[in-house]
Amino acid sequence: MTRNYSVAVLPGDGIGPEVVGAALTVLDAAEARYGFTTARAEYRAGAAHYRETGELFDVLEEELRGAQAILFGAMGDPSVAPGILERGFILEMRQRFAQAANVRPVRLYPGVASPITGLAPERCDMVIVRENTEGAYVGQGSTVHAGTPHTVAMQESLNTRAGIERVVDFSFRLAVSRRKRLTLCHKTNILVEAGKLWQEVVSEYAARYPEVETDYVHVDAMCFHLPLSPERFDVVVTDNLFGDIITDLGAVVQGGLGVATSANINLDESAPSMFEAIHGSAPDIAGKGWANPSGAILSLALMLGHLGEGEAAMAVEAAAVQVLGELPALSGAEMGATTGEVGERIAELVRSGNAEAGLVPDSLLGTLAALEPSRAETSGARPAR
Ligand code: IPM
Ligand code: MG
Repeated sequence: MTRNYSVAVLPGDGIGPEVVGAALTVLDAAEARYGFTTARAEYRAGAAHYRETGELFDVLEEELRGAQAILFGAMGDPSVAPGILERGFILEMRQRFAQAANVRPVRLYPGVASPITGLAPERCDMVIVRENTEGAYVGQGSTVHAGTPHTVAMQESLNTRAGIERVVDFSFRLAVSRRKRLTLCHKTNILVEAGKLWQEVVSEYAARYPEVETDYVHVDAMCFHLPLSPERFDVVVTDNLFGDIITDLGAVVQGGLGVATSANINLDESAPSMFEAIHGSAPDIAGKGWANPSGAILSLALMLGHLGEGEAAMAVEAAAVQVLGELPALSGAEMGATTGEVGERIAELVRSGNAEAGLVPDSLLGTLAALEPSRAETSGARPAR
């Protein structure tokens, strides 16, 4: 089996290229230490590129489809109207590449301060799986009588059984390899049509995965329980819009958007998965070296797990977590090191094999295993690659 992987790199705008640059330094170190290689192709995309060329996702689609994984920075700046890149690039990629599971770990790393007083890392280690291709993000909308006092705006949410099944099945598999607990988060008391379908699918799959304990939390109650009793949760599966909202809350609980990370996992083997930090392009601090590259570097760890390089993934994660714990502040001039220097320090720990493995919980092994497509084949859920 060759251990050479094709990786498409999309640094994007603002701090995107800075944090992706740091992640690539860490990738170099991981390759040297663990004996695999990557063939990387870098693509220009984002606000600056759109202003020059008018190009969005469709131009890159076929080219990107051939990659085994996509490492993504951040996109957007105030020069491009809101919605153009979000819909024309990010959502387009998630949908066309069937990246149906947006996997967002919410873990409090040792040494990182949470705004929740007294929260210890052992109490905060969950993964939120956000359905990434349906819901209000793709529902049709229409406006009639615009510009009059009688304007009517309709905005629908699209929910298909197949779409829910694929992300629910993935979430159960993830729960099986972690702490075997799955929570459905929705608003079934109000959004009764969609809620009924989600609940029905989860109950059906719960019977197929009897070793997993399941429960249900309304999304508003989630905003209460997630910060105050995160230990209740292992895997949380939820709808696209609810997931968008509660993962920002999760990011706050774990110390901020600078450390939060995500994987957009393709679930039908038709296209590559995409790995990105959760933060945006932060044009206000671009070029200063103030951005914390941890979110991007932790997304690299998820990418390595997905590619089957679990050992390298664990090492990258341990090194990133160790360095995070050493920083006096999570970003800005007070971080005490530039974006590039933080990347170098993490790379050095990976290269030397000196990161403290104890910083990484067992649950991460399970998460990484679930991201690996070859493991999923054993469940019969997908054809072989
Ligand atoms: C996210 C972001 C995106 C979303 C935007 C940039 C389209 O908020 O990844 O959570 O709404 O999904
Ligand atoms: Mg969001």
